[in-house]
Amino acid sequence: MRNGRVVGEGHHRRAGAAHAEHVAIAQAGARARGATLYVTLEPCAHRGRTPPCTDAIVRAGIARVVIALEDPDARVRGRGIAALKRAGVDVEIGDGGDAARELNRAYLKQRTSGLPYLTLKIAQTLDGYVARRRGERTPITGARSAAFTRRERIEHDVVMIGVDTAIVDDPLLTVRPRHRRAVPYLRVVVDSHGRIPPGARILHDQRAARTLIATTRTMPRAVRARLQRSGARVMVCRHMPDGRVDLHDLLKRLGRQGHLSVLCEAGPTLARALLAARLVDRIHWLIASKRFGRLPDALAAPEIARARIDAVAPIGRDVFVSGTPEVQRSSPGSSHMKARSSPSKRRTARAGSSSKARSSRTAKRRAPAST
Ligand SMILES: NC(=O)c1ccc[n+]([C@@H]2O[C@H](COP(=O)([O-])OP(=O)(O)OC[C@H]3O[C@@H](n4cnc5c(N)ncnc54)[C@H](OP(=O)(O)O)[C@@H]3O)[C@@H](O)[C@H]2O)c1
Repeated sequence: MRNGRVVGEGHHRRAGAAHAEHVAIAQAGARARGATLYVTLEPCAHRGRTPPCTDAIVRAGIARVVIALEDPDARVRGRGIAALKRAGVDVEIGDGGDAARELNRAYLKQRTSGLPYLTLKIAQTLDGYVARRRGERTPITGARSAAFTRRERIEHDVVMIGVDTAIVDDPLLTVRPRHRRAVPYLRVVVDSHGRIPPGARILHDQRAARTLIATTRTMPRAVRARLQRSGARVMVCRHMPDGRVDLHDLLKRLGRQGHLSVLCEAGPTLARALLAARLVDRIHWLIASKRFGRLPDALAAPEIARARIDAVAPIGRDVFVSGTPEVQRSSPGSSHMKARSSPSKRRTARAGSSSKARSSRTAKRRAPAST
């Protein structure tokens, strides 16, 4: 911003693309000289897939940089701020921090804990059931909720299910219509022993999205070879004392591969295990306005003892509720951040005036739309 006017704006569209600072500066051109730059995350001072932002800022003659959040990435942490100060740029930190934390919650979680930000989606009846009985595919919510879930997938790097959902529902879990993204969208089936049926649809359309089977060393070799022949990847994880996939290990591996966010669309067994392991950051309930009442074998949704409710909204005839499991707040190493998903590290930058309110409004405007 210069003289109270926005002279350039930008956001980081995807990993590998120009950072927000470069985009805003390019747009501002010569008007960047003497301007103030507002950024959600500390500008980087290293050469990664893109050149250092601090160099571009100094070269453009920007006089002042207002940074909402320090970048916890080990390659950046404090170095960007130091480089700017060394070059004589006036630096201010902390304005708009809450909004920036929310916008970047998946990136921050992965960079601070190594684990992706995990959203658990549960479609349930008013009386808390997810299926008429175990082993039966039961449509619960309506078409608008299904469309919402498909959009949610676009916002995540990974969609994950347990092998029993693969067996019973046989979902494709693709983003429809197809959507181009920088981090290839990955479908993960958690299958400790290789029970996924050879004909499962998720194994047979690797062009729409890649499939990864997370398993343990008990998966028979022949099954592993067959899965690989079908084009799926097999990831051998550590196992728990009960022989099942160690979910913390699985998520750590996904985080290490650069996946920032996971949408879990599993049944109650895997959902409960993720909750028990405190690996869930946020829950999305889709609640249908119907009851199963006295069905003796109906499959109950996982019970969540305490959650802070962050958002409630109607979706067609269903109700969407977004919440944060309370236990996350006290879990060591977990980063507690509210609502909404983020496909990748999001940066926003604006070259502009000294209005503090303006910088936080920018961050909010760039947040993905909530439902
Ligand atoms: N309404 C909804 O939101 C919704 C969503 C999905 C599914 N469903 C319904 O739910 C039913 C399936 O649910 P489900 O609970 O039986 O299956 P699930 O949660 O999808 O899958 C459970 C399986 O995952 C495997 N797994 C691997 N590692 C695990 C770990 N550490 N902890 C827990 N599980 C692990 C286990 O099989 P191994 O031991 O063989 O590895 C386990 O049996 C179906 O009727 C489906 O239609 C409803």
